[in-house]
Amino acid sequence: MQPIVVVVLVACVAEAAAFGVAAPPRPPRHRISRERRATKTLRSLRMGYDVDLRGKTAFVAGVADSTGYGWAICKALAEAGATVTVGTWPPVLGIFQKSLEAGKFDADAVLRDGSTMKIAGIYPLDAVFDVPEDVPPEVRANKRYAGLDGFTIAECQAAVARDHGKIDILVHSLANGPEVTKPLLETSRSGYLAASSASAYSFVSLVRHFAPIMNAGGSVVSLTYIASEKVVPGYGGGMSSAKASLESDTRTLAWETGRKYGVRVNTISAGPLKSRAASAINKMEEKSFIEIAIEYCKRNAPLQKDLESDEVGKTALYLLSDLSSAVTGVTMYVDNGIHAMGMVADANVAAIAAE
Ligand SMILES: NC(=O)c1ccc[n+]([C@@H]2O[C@H](COP(=O)([O-])OP(=O)(O)OC[C@H]3O[C@@H](n4cnc5c(N)ncnc54)[C@H](O)[C@@H]3O)[C@@H](O)[C@H]2O)c1
Repeated sequence: MQPIVVVVLVACVAEAAAFGVAAPPRPPRHRISRERRATKTLRSLRMGYDVDLRGKTAFVAGVADSTGYGWAICKALAEAGATVTVGTWPPVLGIFQKSLEAGKFDADAVLRDGSTMKIAGIYPLDAVFDVPEDVPPEVRANKRYAGLDGFTIAECQAAVARDHGKIDILVHSLANGPEVTKPLLETSRSGYLAASSASAYSFVSLVRHFAPIMNAGGSVVSLTYIASEKVVPGYGGGMSSAKASLESDTRTLAWETGRKYGVRVNTISAGPLKSRAASAINKMEEKSFIEIAIEYCKRNAPLQKDLESDEVGKTALYLLSDLSSAVTGVTMYVDNGIHAMGMVADANVAAIAAE
């Protein structure tokens, strides 16, 4: 307790000087050295809470442009000094690589110190396939997969391990529901199972394959959405069910990977963001699903402001670093507080859609 009292004294003296108050008489020598020690302690305490991920390696699955949550998480990790690698869905891999090379994302890759984020490896990854035997011939023959090999989860893990050895951070930032535009009542069995496979089991499989190459103390984060627990009209095709599974699996995986590998598992329930994936959901009247969801949240959330992808990035950084060393199995909301509302101020979605 004592150092804290001394620190407060030091702070008061500094504050008085800042406001031009006459300096108090010079304290005796022994007090100066005690004060210096206290200042040093304060400085090292501040240092102690800096997030330093130098020497740590991250694999972020689900990055193909700079508009989504995956990119924002990569940036937050890079700011903290982590080596960042990504997994990209084969159909968009070529365009992502070409755009990166052409400098199309340069403006979005600038870090706070003025440097540019480096991606230390881009791995093809189709998270609906676990092992090569799972890939049907028509997928291999598809021109969007032509010339690509090693895009199943097991092969991707092997490639990351070959290039980087053990990793410390794993992020699942991907989802896909082929019938997302259909209400649940009209969703086919295959559509429902495809949403679950790409958006929920992909997480189980990713953790199952990557946890063995993670250092103890490592951390995993995925992204979920409030439609898992409350009805969000328009978020269809079994995607709401897939997100409910993802959240439940987060708790079970936290238990199992905590005991087996000393690795933590959490999920972030993020508010709406106009990413490429979200923009593809649906058109409702004049606006898309995501535009309406963003406007609805702005009108009704406790914090009436835009939700920036960097805000999810910062929370991911907390969950992926030692700052959260005792946090596992949680669903953490980063949504300006909309999840807390039972009765909203302006619920007129139809009016928002028609505006
Ligand atoms: N945008 C939102 O409003 C919002 C809100 C809450 C949660 N989320 C979640 O955030 C995560 C990231 O999505 P985003 O909105 O940032 O969009 P995004 O487009 O940046 O990310 C989705 C990624 O998933 C990839 N993908 C699709 N199918 C895949 C597969 N089979 N294998 C590998 N990758 C595949 C896409 O190529 C894309 O890169 C998703 O889990 C999404 O559900 C998004």
